[in-house]
Amino acid sequence: MTRQGSTPFGEEGRRLSYGSYLKIPELLSLQQGLSEAHDELLFITVHQAYELWFKVVLFELESARDRIAADEVFWARHLLERVRVIERLLVDQVDVLETMAPQDFLDFRSQLAPASGFQSVQFREIEFLSGLKDAGYLDRLEASGEERARLQRRLAEPSLADAFHGLLEKRGSPSLLEVFHHRERWADLFDLCEALLDHDEAFALWRSRHVLMVERQIGRKPGTGGSTGAGYLRSTLEKRFFPELWELRSEL
Ligand code: HEM
Repeated sequence: MTRQGSTPFGEEGRRLSYGSYLKIPELLSLQQGLSEAHDELLFITVHQAYELWFKVVLFELESARDRIAADEVFWARHLLERVRVIERLLVDQVDVLETMAPQDFLDFRSQLAPASGFQSVQFREIEFLSGLKDAGYLDRLEASGEERARLQRRLAEPSLADAFHGLLEKRGSPSLLEVFHHRERWADLFDLCEALLDHDEAFALWRSRHVLMVERQIGRKPGTGGSTGAGYLRSTLEKRFFPELWELRSEL
């Protein structure tokens, strides 16, 4: 809608439209399957939607890390709240792919190999940026030079966990137990701990939802990426970004 008297032209007099601003034609040209299988469009779209949200999650986590490092806890929590809501969407999005029957996935699955979600660079970036750094993935990853450089940078730069520990130091190094026992005194730190845990829990939930979907789709078959499949994925379920925030619960 345009205000009366205004024109639908951008600042420089060029005509801006929904499609040109959002690059819709380009976006809609990117779902190119390898087969005639009915469900391949859904499969590609769901994965692309994940990668788009991963992009936003990375952007927000990076900003949250910087805000924590600058002792701007209010803003860090504001951004982490957005991440939490997006991650809830990512867990729920598994439902969409589960409308695919395993027989229908088999119509095009063999053509995907050796491509696999294991090669999602942004997923690994989120893990590294959050605090789960494992340089070993770089050896096992088939990635372009640019993607490799991005992962190297994530390994080298401070993680959310590093920024959080730095903030505790800046505040006089209270123990987490102290923060939890006297939360009114350490209110913003306590709230930040819970916001970080929300992010951690959301990722753990995604891992469990993903492995259940995998078992539903391919049972105990190996993955297209060459792992044992569900067996490998189950071995990742215990991964945590902030183990100390989980452990302290037993000590309260
Ligand atoms: C039919 C649906 C799916 C199946 C059967 C499936 C299967 C698998 C399997 C077997 C693996 C282990 C690596 C391998 O050997 O390939 C894997 C890893 C992975 N998948 Fe999926 N996947 C599906 C959907 C998705 C979706 C929608 C995403 C969203 C981005 C995704 C992201 C990932 C990621 C990030 C990993 C690496 C996990 C890790 O190493 O911790 N997958 N997937």
